[in-house]
Amino acid sequence: MKLGFIGTGKIASSVIIGICNSKIEYNQIIISPRNRKIANSLKRRFKKISIAKNNQEIVDKSNWVFLSVTPKVGEKIIKRLKFKASQTVVSFISTINLSELKKMIKVKSKIVRAIPLPPISLKKGPVPICPPNKKVKNFFDKIGSTIEIKNEKLSINFWSTSGMMASYYDMLRVISDWLVKKGIKRQDAQKYITTLFLALSEDAVVNSQKELKYLVKESQTPKGLNEQGLKIMSKKGVYKSVINTLNSIHKRLNK
Ligand SMILES: NC(=O)c1ccc[n+]([C@@H]2O[C@H](COP(=O)([O-])OP(=O)(O)OC[C@H]3O[C@@H](n4cnc5c(N)ncnc54)[C@H](OP(=O)(O)O)[C@@H]3O)[C@@H](O)[C@H]2O)c1
Repeated sequence: MKLGFIGTGKIASSVIIGICNSKIEYNQIIISPRNRKIANSLKRRFKKISIAKNNQEIVDKSNWVFLSVTPKVGEKIIKRLKFKASQTVVSFISTINLSELKKMIKVKSKIVRAIPLPPISLKKGPVPICPPNKKVKNFFDKIGSTIEIKNEKLSINFWSTSGMMASYYDMLRVISDWLVKKGIKRQDAQKYITTLFLALSEDAVVNSQKELKYLVKESQTPKGLNEQGLKIMSKKGVYKSVINTLNSIHKRLNK
């Protein structure tokens, strides 16, 4: 099987690194010359990667085509490409929906939207796909955990939560910077904070069968530091602001 990627930015390169370090069977990965720097470094790193001259060459040579460009670029270039009905097209593009993709692609290719996130390069993280597709599910299960979603309206809810990634990292940065200001070496501060949140996340995954509110409760000693932290953040409206942020991202996706 030949896999083609149109756009070689952050998400394409993360998925490609995941694939190349996984048990996925493929003959070749054909990538676009853009971004040149990332494309060249992937080609140097993995031997089954080749760089096409242009986007049409990627479509012509691939069984599966991954659309990994921004929405603005996608709107401009997809309609000009000639796809084949026998192809599977997997779109990572956040704000182009299935009916718009169908119109742009014209032929009856299988079209699936997927939301991998950068930790897929480590073969970790959820990958919501819509509509359900067994082959695409099996593929992403080798580099992450696929969640099949029946309708696009529901999948938009997952897209909305994936918009919290940068804010999450920024919280880690803010806490680490606070430690640094208190005189801790940056390396030690960042090691402590990232390891702490990794452990908390692993614990949350292990306990995810129960409602998360139990973890919130169990992590507080009465009158303890965590109780104090939670109270202050709730009073300051931090969690309300999380909901408002999600609603705002959702509104943009639900056009
Ligand atoms: N980043 C994430 O975590 C993430 C997760 C899930 C989905 N997505 C979605 O994936 C898409 C790509 O996101 P990204 O973060 O990977 O963006 P990105 O890093 O900006 O990558 C976009 C890529 O498109 C290339 N490009 C621009 N014009 C092109 C053209 N005419 N033909 C072919 N390639 C072209 C860019 O090349 P140049 O650098 O040369 O311009 C770049 O390699 C977006 O729609 C985003 O919503 C992203």
